[in-house]
Amino acid sequence: MNRFSGLIITAFVFLVACNKGAENIDKTSSKKKMTFTDTHSYANPEQVRVTHLDWEANVDFERKIIDAKAVLSLDRSDDADTLVLDTHRLVINEVTYASGEKAVFRKGEDDALLGSALRIALKPETEKVIISYSTAPDAPALQWLTPMQTSGGTSPFLFTQSQAILARTWIPLQDSPGIRFTYTAKVKVPSGMLALMSAQNPMEKSADGSYSFTMDQPIPAYLMALAVGDLEFARLGERSGVYAEPSVIDTAAYEFAELEDMISAAEDLYGSYQWGRYDLLVLPPSFPFGGMENPRLTFATPTILAGDRSLTSLIAHELAHSWSGNLVTNATWNDFWLNEGFTVYFEQRIMEKLYGASYSEMLASLETEDLKKEISELTSRGKESDTHLKLDLDGRNPDEGMTDIAYVKGYLFLRYLENEAGRETFDRFLRNYFERNAFNVMTTEAFLQEVNDYLIAPERLNVGMVKLKEWVYNPGLPGDAVFPESDRFGLVDEQRENFMNGMPPEELETTEWSSHEWVRFVRSLPVNIGKHKMADLDSTFRLTDTGNSELLSAWLELAIKAKYKPADERLESFLINTGRRKFLMPLYTALVATYPDKKMALEIYEKARPNYHYVSYKSIDDLLNYEKSN
Ligand code: BES
Ligand code: ZN
Repeated sequence: MNRFSGLIITAFVFLVACNKGAENIDKTSSKKKMTFTDTHSYANPEQVRVTHLDWEANVDFERKIIDAKAVLSLDRSDDADTLVLDTHRLVINEVTYASGEKAVFRKGEDDALLGSALRIALKPETEKVIISYSTAPDAPALQWLTPMQTSGGTSPFLFTQSQAILARTWIPLQDSPGIRFTYTAKVKVPSGMLALMSAQNPMEKSADGSYSFTMDQPIPAYLMALAVGDLEFARLGERSGVYAEPSVIDTAAYEFAELEDMISAAEDLYGSYQWGRYDLLVLPPSFPFGGMENPRLTFATPTILAGDRSLTSLIAHELAHSWSGNLVTNATWNDFWLNEGFTVYFEQRIMEKLYGASYSEMLASLETEDLKKEISELTSRGKESDTHLKLDLDGRNPDEGMTDIAYVKGYLFLRYLENEAGRETFDRFLRNYFERNAFNVMTTEAFLQEVNDYLIAPERLNVGMVKLKEWVYNPGLPGDAVFPESDRFGLVDEQRENFMNGMPPEELETTEWSSHEWVRFVRSLPVNIGKHKMADLDSTFRLTDTGNSELLSAWLELAIKAKYKPADERLESFLINTGRRKFLMPLYTALVATYPDKKMALEIYEKARPNYHYVSYKSIDDLLNYEKSN
C-alpha cells in the first residue's frame, strides 16, 4: 500500500423523511453511503473491523513501559485474509489466535508520522487475535512524570494523550476516528496509586493496585485514555465529580462546583447525555492541552483553576464534545472542524444559558479576534488553504489542523446558519442531527447534505449550496459572516484609550472587570507601550503576579514584546512549570521574534523541556530548531 493512500471507509447513514417541526425522527426510511479515506491510518476496515478490545496491562514506572495484552474481536468479511493495525514504536512480542496457536504477523516500514502497519494473517475462522506487546519508553502518547513534576511531590504520575494519532503508540488498534469499538481493561499499577480510564471508573484506590474498566459504548481509538497517580475523588453532583491529586482536590471541587448545572444546560439544548457519568480529572501542569474530551472522564489542565470559576468555559467545551465529537465523530482529521467548530458553538450556547449573553459574547469576541489574527498569519505565510474548514492534511501531522480555523471559523459558520434559520429552528435541527448520527461518523460533505436536506429545504431558507461550500472550501471568512459583539469590551476599549492618552491606571474604571475584560485590555495594548506604562500598570494591578493563567500569558507575551524586564522571572517560572502548548507557543514565538539570537528562549527551554509532554516539546523543537544534543 502506498504510504498515504490510506483506507477507504464506507459508512451507512440513515436518511430520514424530514417532517417540518417534528421532534421525533424516523430512522427507517432510507440508507445512504458515506465514503471517505483516512490517510492517517493503515487500517483496512473494508475487510475487517475491530469491534471490541479486552486490554490487560501492567504499568511499570521504573522502566517507563506498559507491558500489555490486547485481545481484539473482529467483524470481518469471509474473504478477509489480513488484519492491518496501526502501531508506533510498539514492541510486538507475540500474536496468537483464540486457540493459542501463533499467528503470522509482519511489521511494515516505520514512518516517522504514522508509525508502522502491523499485518496479521487471518484464518477463515479467526474472530479474535491476541497481541502481547510493550510500549516504548519514549512512546509519544505517554508522559511519565517524576514525583517532583506533580503537585504532591511524592508519587510518580502517568497520563496518555491519544488524539490525534497517538493511540497507536500505546495500543495496537485501527487508529482512525471512523472506526469504533467497545472495551474492557484490567490494569495493574503500583499499590497506593489510582488508575483511571475513559470508561467506568473506580472512585477510590484498591488495596493491591489492580483496577477493572468497562466502556460499553463504541468509541474511536483517539478517545482511549489512561491516567495513573496519587489521585482522589470528590463528588460534585448526582452523576459528576472530579479527580485530582490530594493537594489540589479542594481547589478543583470549588472551581467546578457548577458542573452538574452545565450538564443539565447541555441536555436542555441538544438532548440527553449518553455516557452515564461525567467526571473530570485535573492533571499535573505538564498536560499539553487545556482539555481532552475522553469519554466519561475529561482530562483538564490545572491552569484553569483560577480560584474564581472564570475559566470553566473550557469544561463546557469538553462536555459539549460528549455530543459533537464523541457521539458524532469527524470521519477523518480533514473534517476536524466538525468536532471542534460544533463544540465551540455548543460551548458558547452552554455559557450563554448559564451566565447570559453579555458574558458569552465576551468569550466569543476574544476567540474571533484570535481567528482574524490566525487567518492573516496563515495567509501571509502562504498557507491560505489551511484557512479552509475542510482541510488537506495528507502526509502531514493532523495536529497542524488544530488552529482557530477549525474552532472559530467552524463556530462562525454554525452561528451564520443559526442566524439564517432562527435559533429555535436551528436548535431543533441540531438536536435531530445528534440523534440521527449518534455513534456514527460524519464527513464535511455529508454534513452539508444534512444542512440542505433537514434545514434549508424544509425551512425554505435562502441559503444555497454555493454559500455552504464557500464557508467550507474557500479561504478566510465570507463577507457576510456574523461576528459576536460585546458591549463590555466596548467599555474596556474606552479605558484603554484613556490610559494610552495619559490617564493614570488608578483612575481607570476597572473594578467590575472579570479576567476576560483584563485579557481584552492587555491584548489590545500596543507593543510599543513603553516600560514606564508597563510598570505603572503592573504596580497598580499586580499583573505579573496574577494567578489567572489566561491573563498571565497575555501579559507575559506583551512583556516580552515590550521588553519589560521585571516580568522575566515570572516568565521563566511559568514556562518551566506549565506544559500547555497554547500558552507556550505564543511566548516562545514572542521570545524569538524579540530576541532573534534565541539565547533567552533556549536558556529557558533547556530547563523547561524535560517537563513538557511530547506534543508540546515537538512543537517547540520545531519552532526553535532545537536538537536534543544542543
Ligand atoms: N480535542 C481537543 C484537544 C485536541 C485536539 C487534542 C486535537 C489533540 C488534537 C479539545 O477538546 C480542545 O479543543 N481543547 C482546547 C480547549 C478548548 C476550550 C478550545 C485546548 O486544549 O486548548
Ligand atoms: Zn475541543
